[in-house]
Amino acid sequence: MQPNDFQDKLLTWFDCYGRKNLPWQNPVTPYRVWLSETMLQQTQVATVIPYFNAFVARFPDLPSLAQAPVDEVLQYWAGLGYYARARNLHKAAQLMMAQGRFPDTLADLTALPGIGLSTAGAILSIAFNNSHPILDGNVKRVLSRHQAIAGWPGSSQTSKQLWAVSAFLTPSERVADYTQAIMDLGATLCTRSKPNCPACPLQDSCQAWLLGRVSDYPSPKPAKTIPSRQITFLMLRNSLNEVLLEKRPPVGIWGGLWSLPEFADAESAMAWCVSQHMTVSQQQLLPSKRHTFSHFHLDYSTLLVDAQNLTDNVMDVRQMLWYNIGLGKGLALAAPITQLLQQINDEDDHG
Ligand code: ADE
Ligand code: SF4
Repeated sequence: MQPNDFQDKLLTWFDCYGRKNLPWQNPVTPYRVWLSETMLQQTQVATVIPYFNAFVARFPDLPSLAQAPVDEVLQYWAGLGYYARARNLHKAAQLMMAQGRFPDTLADLTALPGIGLSTAGAILSIAFNNSHPILDGNVKRVLSRHQAIAGWPGSSQTSKQLWAVSAFLTPSERVADYTQAIMDLGATLCTRSKPNCPACPLQDSCQAWLLGRVSDYPSPKPAKTIPSRQITFLMLRNSLNEVLLEKRPPVGIWGGLWSLPEFADAESAMAWCVSQHMTVSQQQLLPSKRHTFSHFHLDYSTLLVDAQNLTDNVMDVRQMLWYNIGLGKGLALAAPITQLLQQINDEDDHG
């Protein structure tokens, strides 16, 4: 890939289709670019525009922002979310005033709260026309597709690769337009879902498009591997078609909800039944199912036991009750238990 070629295609497209009437583009000042890039970090252009306009009407320049009470700054930010951005903006404005100028180097900009490498690159290129690469979400997507870079862009290895590509492709001339162009391309054509490749100026060099694998890039965030736990639920049913439920302890998973008695495995569930002197007429082990919590998978199988001779003393030990499956309502049940009871009830109806 020739950087010149890439830049020319992008800039020619920008001249026709790029965005040139965003409020922060007229006029372009370091303060307005910094403010807009901060608002755009986690928020879409269409949402940002009215907030930007109201903000600069009240705080038109660095001194007015630095002098304002932080509560008033937050008030103008209200609705944009991620309020640390507003606090950092206000703090950075005061630091810039103390330094006596708006910083114009990468080191000075990234030393300020809320300004990372990409935001600093955007300020330097857009406001000062100094050649610096950026790597925001749009650019990550465009470059990982164009170069067919596998790997999740949030990982340090892939991010390093993408920064190197971004630096390689960033021109020394017209860098403000180039930076705006690649962000606009990512926002309007090379979108996350259904990118408009047939209209894209980069299609003849885009590796993902040429491979017919656009949807494979960028790689999604890998699912974190979480541990799994195996348990067996005992579904003990009496001759009145009632099932024994047990109340979970107040803390931990399903805290305070009603569940089935839980055992390490089917053998210990059966051993418990035997210890209660019941007469088991039928038993059946239902297939294992998975319920996923944020921090582990619960793999549970269910031992269905039909028994007679059940006395209330099974309920003595723990907080238990007999629950009529057909009529039962009004108990707060753990999610898989509702499913299991539904399943058992359906099978009875049909069989
Ligand atoms: N997203 C982040 N910065 C942007 C900008 N300057 N224009 C459009 N979208 C953006
Ligand atoms: Fe993105 Fe498609 Fe253009 Fe490649 S051809 S850069 S995938 S829009």
